[in-house]
Amino acid sequence: MTDFIHRFEPATSAGSPPLLLLHGTGGDENDLLGLGKMISPGSALLSPRGRVLEHGMPRFFRRLAEGVFDETDVRRRAIELADFVANARTQYGIAAPIAVGFSNGANIAAALLLLKPEVLAGAILLRAMVPLSDPPMAKLDGKPVLLLSGQADPIVPASNSAKLAALLSHAGARVDHKVLPAGHQISQADVTLARNWIGSVE
Ligand code: MLT
Repeated sequence: MTDFIHRFEPATSAGSPPLLLLHGTGGDENDLLGLGKMISPGSALLSPRGRVLEHGMPRFFRRLAEGVFDETDVRRRAIELADFVANARTQYGIAAPIAVGFSNGANIAAALLLLKPEVLAGAILLRAMVPLSDPPMAKLDGKPVLLLSGQADPIVPASNSAKLAALLSHAGARVDHKVLPAGHQISQADVTLARNWIGSVE
């Protein structure tokens, strides 16, 4: 079994869904704990550190250039992460989590939805892009997905996030895609929208 360095914080309120927190390039397992608590106070938090290093910066898969992914590695790392989540669920006794991913973490969450949909109960994708050019036809069976994009994001073109929304909807996900007046960074509006959305899907 491949292990991930990770943090786990148990739930403090029984009704809240567990969250799988997936950081951006150069982040680590501590980065999104605060965001997770703001979005869903009381949820169990499972937060792994990406196992790929790019000039010392942790990520969840290799890329050839910014926005150009090593898709063989995307597939391999998504399976690795799926195994980690399955093992962590047994170890910590948690239900299938809702992923909360930012940037590279949102991209691996999107890959998980396409390759291993059973691993996630849903996903909040902050500044995600299409992770695979030729994904298998996933069956997302009404899984809820909140996709928040930045109108002025220099990394993710509007056409790319629209394509991801279409891909996930086509696979059967219940996608709520909002384009915010923001760049690649998370804004206060992301936090508010994510918190309201999670309240509505609980
Ligand atoms: C990626 O490599 O996943 C995207 O370019 C986002 C990033 O990490 O900057």
